Amino acid sequence: MRATITSVAHYVPPTVLDNAYFAKYLDTTDEWILTRTGISERRIAKEGATSDLIVPAAKECIEKRGITANDIDCIIVATVTPDHSFPATAALVQHKIGANNAWGFDLSAACSGFLFSFITACKLVESGAAKRLLLCGGDKMSSITDYEDRSQAMLFGDAGAAVLIEPSDDPDCGLIDYIAKIDGSGAPYLKMIAGGSAKPSSLETVQNKEHYLKQDGQTVFKAAVKAMADCSVDIMKRNNLENKDVAWLVPHQANMRIIVATAERMQLPKEQVMININKYGNTTAATIPMCLSEWNAAGKIKKADNVIMSSFGAGYTYGSVLLRWNANK
Ligand code: COA
Repeated sequence: MRATITSVAHYVPPTVLDNAYFAKYLDTTDEWILTRTGISERRIAKEGATSDLIVPAAKECIEKRGITANDIDCIIVATVTPDHSFPATAALVQHKIGANNAWGFDLSAACSGFLFSFITACKLVESGAAKRLLLCGGDKMSSITDYEDRSQAMLFGDAGAAVLIEPSDDPDCGLIDYIAKIDGSGAPYLKMIAGGSAKPSSLETVQNKEHYLKQDGQTVFKAAVKAMADCSVDIMKRNNLENKDVAWLVPHQANMRIIVATAERMQLPKEQVMININKYGNTTAATIPMCLSEWNAAGKIKKADNVIMSSFGAGYTYGSVLLRWNANK
């Protein structure tokens, strides 16, 4: 038995920050941001926490499937910006949507959070340990972005998304294969320095801006291009797929140039790549399910389409998933 996505939805907050906003107070331009990242605008949550971005998406996802929150038996939340260190954001989402029969947990894999929790969710469903699993990916990146730093201020946005994972009614569709890797030698290049047990919060850590994200952009960029392209090409090879057999690449949306380089290595035309980074920036755990949600709503993903999802994030964490699309009847 295979596990598959049977419903998908997303939510973005209404406030839009366009590139002109940053050009007003930082030494940057709309042109630099657009050509170096592919981003034109991003959404920012003026209030609320990550769970508040996830809950509208979760409710819509459940409603679209024609079930109730009480039918959910497990909730996984992928996030790097949990509402609190503890309790888990999954517990807060469970309570807010009234999923009274669910257990659940958070999964931390930064920008690979959705990919890693998708694999985990499918394995729980394949084993019978869960039957209707609500997998949420959401991040309030504005809560950890340094808006005074021009090398990161314009990169990130806030969003929430949710997919329902259930047994597939077609044995040929659902999760087919995955490659997932973690490599802690990349930890220094993308991290939050303070606030954890290695460096607890103090007046000094706040003054030193150590609760914001820190990254060595170029090092991360190069590692991301190699990892996403290698994993995506490998998963094609070991499943005997040529470019004509792949309907969609769904890449994590961190930088347009990383997306284009990955697609080029797979020899996929841009028309077969889901790209919405221009509207939302990098929303971390929400990027991939948001693409699936938008393309599904537009009727562009067809049953039995081979969909390759690929991501790279802090850790490093990275991988690719082959999903044969089936939204169930
Ligand atoms: N506006 C104008 N100039 C800027 C700028 C901005 N917003 N940000 C940086 N620059 C400048 C730099 O100071 C540098 O100037 P210099 O040549 O005079 O030193 C120049 O632009 C090039 O900087 P660099 O950091 O090499 O740019 P880049 O092409 O690598 O782009 C990122 C920077 C952050 C967009 C890019 O490295 C990136 O996307 N990295 C990966 C990020 C990522 O994926 N993170 C999350 C992982 S999931």
